[in-house]
Amino acid sequence: MGFRGGFRPLVTLVLLCLCASRLCSLSHAKRTPRPTPTPAKKPPPSSPSQQSPPPPASYPPLPVRAVCLGGWLVTEGWILPSLFDGIPNKDLLDGTQVQFKSALRKTYLTADQGGGGAVVANRTQASDWETFKLWRMNETTFNFRTSGNQFVGIGASDGLIVATATTPTLPETFQIVRCPFDKNRVRIKAANGYFVQAIATGEVIADYGEPTRWSDFDASVFLMTKVGEQLQGEYQLCNGYGTDKATPLLRDHWSTYIVEDDFKFFASSGLTAVRIPVGWWIASDPNPPAPYVGGSLQALDNAFKWAEYVISLQRSTSWVSSLTCTLLPDHRTPGSTAPPETARRNGEQQMPTLRRRCKSSISSHPGTRRARACLPWS
Ligand SMILES: *[C@@H]1O[C@H](CO)[C@@H](O)[C@H](O)[C@H]1NC(C)=O
Ligand SMILES: *[C@@H]1O[C@H](CO)[C@@H](O)[C@H](O)[C@H]1NC(C)=O
Repeated sequence: MGFRGGFRPLVTLVLLCLCASRLCSLSHAKRTPRPTPTPAKKPPPSSPSQQSPPPPASYPPLPVRAVCLGGWLVTEGWILPSLFDGIPNKDLLDGTQVQFKSALRKTYLTADQGGGGAVVANRTQASDWETFKLWRMNETTFNFRTSGNQFVGIGASDGLIVATATTPTLPETFQIVRCPFDKNRVRIKAANGYFVQAIATGEVIADYGEPTRWSDFDASVFLMTKVGEQLQGEYQLCNGYGTDKATPLLRDHWSTYIVEDDFKFFASSGLTAVRIPVGWWIASDPNPPAPYVGGSLQALDNAFKWAEYVISLQRSTSWVSSLTCTLLPDHRTPGSTAPPETARRNGEQQMPTLRRRCKSSISSHPGTRRARACLPWS
């Protein structure tokens, strides 16, 4: 295991962001400490073999007593729901699953077979084919993803609604217009400027104009039902506000939610480790891919600083500082606080690439503890 290579044995708080199983393996690893590699200072040229072996490093007594700083550098809606309060249409975050029932015909919009052909409205019960995942572009504009991972859009010319696109472009863009007095009564405006309606044959066409009275007799009015769990992760937060508005909000959160005094408290309470979940996008901080906000790496650096500071206050001399990084999507350990969906759009599996990115970026940070302490991924 390369993670201990190069440690100075006198540092303190074990900074971890790893799942419980890793915590375990780390603890085991500490039972059989290997000698700390000698620093690259000139060894006595004459007889290196006569060097006395380095004194055995001492490590924190087992068990590791750790606290998890969840909800700090990775958003988890259940920990701090108020972070989401300022998002317009915050019940329609990215990944929300919706069904649309025609108010007039009492049938649901259906991507038959999960997509690949026309969208119809001929079923009175809703199931997978009648459920669409929202890809949120802004507070009113969305793509609809079918259960077969295709996107709803308007067909070539006639305004017929189909579910045949594998990536969303302009024809796959829809506006959800909500009724002023019932927000789950909606009209769906297509890219051609017309509203979607369900006609008597069961076909679905975007050819309905303004105005509306929002009544059940208007074929362009749909009753929208949300199903499944609402995702409230970092993606949803940043996407929901938009990066510009999410930036000051998150930076304020990072600098106030966990502060230096917390580390003093941890140390005085006898804790020996801190687990800090970080998102994969921290690897490309300060310029993470949209919509994520840069700056969480600085907060993580602060945590390292505070850990050392607290340690020096305590005059503790025998601890090890390490950082390991496990990406949230890998959290499958029971009791893990982060559902895999929180960090991704629609819960897609992106691990292989992300793993590499996180590892290489973290190990290429010279001059910080992060450079010395990266647990092998596999
Ligand atoms: C609804 O329309 C689809 C596609 O045209 C068709 O395959 C299906 O049988 C219809 N279902 C009902 C209940 O009419
Ligand atoms: C949302 O995006 C659409 C399409 O790009 C645009 O027409 C609309 O003005 C945007 N709405 C807001 C509130 O930004």
